[in-house]
Amino acid sequence: PQVCWLAPEQTAGKQKPYMYTQGQAVLNRSFFPCFDTPSVKCTYSASVEVPEGFTAVMSATSWEKQNDNTFVFKMSQPIPSYLIALAVGDIVSADVGPRSRVWAEPCLIEAAKKEYDGVIEEFLAVGEKLFGPYVWGRYDILFMPPSFPFGGMENPCLTFVTPCLLAGDRSLVDVIIHEISHSWFGNLVTNATWGEFWLNEGFTMYAQRRISTEVYGSAYTCLEAATGRALLRQHMDNTGEDHPLNKLRVVIEPGVNPDDTYNETPYEKGYCFVSYLAHLVGDQSKFDAFLQAYVNRFKFQSITADDTLGFFLEYFPELKQKGVESIPGFEFDRWLNTPGWPPFLPDLSPGEQLMKPADELAELWAADGLNMEAIEAVDISAWRTYQLVYFLDQVLQKSPLPEGNVERLSKMYPKISKAQNAELRLRWCQIILRNNLEAEYSKVKDFLHSQGKQKYTLPLYRAMWSGSEPARALAMETFSATAPQLHVNVRNYVKKILGLE
Ligand code: BES
Ligand code: ZN
Repeated sequence: PQVCWLAPEQTAGKQKPYMYTQGQAVLNRSFFPCFDTPSVKCTYSASVEVPEGFTAVMSATSWEKQNDNTFVFKMSQPIPSYLIALAVGDIVSADVGPRSRVWAEPCLIEAAKKEYDGVIEEFLAVGEKLFGPYVWGRYDILFMPPSFPFGGMENPCLTFVTPCLLAGDRSLVDVIIHEISHSWFGNLVTNATWGEFWLNEGFTMYAQRRISTEVYGSAYTCLEAATGRALLRQHMDNTGEDHPLNKLRVVIEPGVNPDDTYNETPYEKGYCFVSYLAHLVGDQSKFDAFLQAYVNRFKFQSITADDTLGFFLEYFPELKQKGVESIPGFEFDRWLNTPGWPPFLPDLSPGEQLMKPADELAELWAADGLNMEAIEAVDISAWRTYQLVYFLDQVLQKSPLPEGNVERLSKMYPKISKAQNAELRLRWCQIILRNNLEAEYSKVKDFLHSQGKQKYTLPLYRAMWSGSEPARALAMETFSATAPQLHVNVRNYVKKILGLE
């Protein structure tokens, strides 16, 4: 299941076949023989022979094309097996910074260059200032075929991303900042087991938002964090707060695929815990210095939360003396081992200037008998993508809206209902389904045909399957048409949702 073989029709250019690998969490064992656990790290080299007219790329520090269609790669830093990745296709590259280029099929390369030209270096530089040297040499980005199941995958030296990021306005750049942040948290300091995945993703969410705050300010970053918190709320509402996966340290029994435990908790509850540690320290620059010391202490190693928290208390002896690990209600043990809503939430009020107008507008649209005068007085033309996302999340929460409101909303804001931006399309499709707007079902279908990202695909199938008969029919019809192009993991999860397995 590890190696994805795509027919020409499944690529953007539709001319040549394509293959790629996705290692995380435990798929690389079917790609090459290895100790397929994040607790073991090693260097690697590879020699890849491809047919004429194809290019191979890998997550490697050096890359060389020999004249006989053989590419030779070497990763000179020790990494866990899940970070080894290969892609072969009709791919070309363009420089976007002093140590960065974008890779994509020829028909996408202009758009890829335009999206990120001149912006990557700033994220790397801010990351280095905050967390220490970037040890991986290059930072390149590969735009994958549409069925790539993730927003981004932090393969060292070469992040793999969904082509959905090509929004034309850099609005989805938080994914890139996230993957860059893994250069320190995850790729240098690695969770020793998948049960402590929050060490990778929670610290990375924190690092992502630190970089974002430095580059874009706290208002925008808090708005983005609020949409993350909403995802955690949705997840906990769906599963029940007490679900055993809703703790940071997850017990993964033998025989259970770690991918099947994937959810928002390690990301957003993890983010809250790291924010809580920062709150205990009380001084951002001191906490930044701690993070840098932490990376330096554990770089090229695989660790558990005990190592992390032990080092935290060692680094701040005054906090250890105060007994911060056992403050009632906020015990480190509770954070790690008790499921449920985070006991501490970081203050997102700097985002309120952006959230409040969106909250108010959603309120207006949820009313019986619309106050069109008040609605028309709100000008959303200058709203950023994440402000619209936040607005749509509020509308979704209040849905189903009174009869007719969503139709009017759709007409009033073509910027939303006809959006090409994937984050907006996802929310709009969710609203269509929650409000039973059969006239717009084709939008759900088109979106699911256009890409195969897991975080877009599964929520929509869940919504269709828990909806009306026509919604269920739409799910079946869409799945039978798109199943062959979905990643095997995603296909299996959809099958489960639809009761096909
Ligand atoms: N490492 C993850 C993707 C992943 C997780 C692949 C688990 C396989 C198993 C990556 O860094 C990630 O978190 N991507 C997010 C980005 C988002 C949080 C900005 C995604 O794809 O949505
Ligand atoms: Zn991540």
